[in-house]
Amino acid sequence: MSGTGGTGERRGHETKTIKGRGSTPGGKISRAKFVRLGAALGLGAAAAPALTACGGGSGEPIVGSGEAIAREDEIAPGSALIFTDAETGEPYVLARTQRGELAAYSAECTHQGCTVSEDLRRGRYLVCPCHNSVFDAASGEAVSGPAREPLPRLPIRIRDGRIFRD
Ligand code: FES
Repeated sequence: MSGTGGTGERRGHETKTIKGRGSTPGGKISRAKFVRLGAALGLGAAAAPALTACGGGSGEPIVGSGEAIAREDEIAPGSALIFTDAETGEPYVLARTQRGELAAYSAECTHQGCTVSEDLRRGRYLVCPCHNSVFDAASGEAVSGPAREPLPRLPIRIRDGRIFRD
């Protein structure tokens, strides 16, 4: 037997293009759809890092409940990191203000659901690129723009130099 091309055979990190509903114009499935598909197929949080490594494509971490989001030293003061919930495919943001406050929130703007930017304005504010709503990265409160409701907070904890979802 040659061992290549057999039905059901695993091929390491081969990336497949899936077309159909939820696909991007380039023919690849969206990241959120990809994560939801994995959840529907019964791939739990433990499988999510492998999904990322095998071609999530965006470079954003996919993080399940209780898993590490980042190392503490990866989030410098005045910066933020967008990551994806492994179960739902929804975006979240981990932010550290210039003053050092560290918090995580849903990254879906409470106005109409766009994903906030991970570029902190003036080292303190999360900004939605769609209609310019501004949120305080220390509290999640909406401070200007059409959004009125705060970004929902995601509990985190720090252990051994890493930041975990609670
Ligand atoms: S969707 Fe964010 S400001 Fe409108």
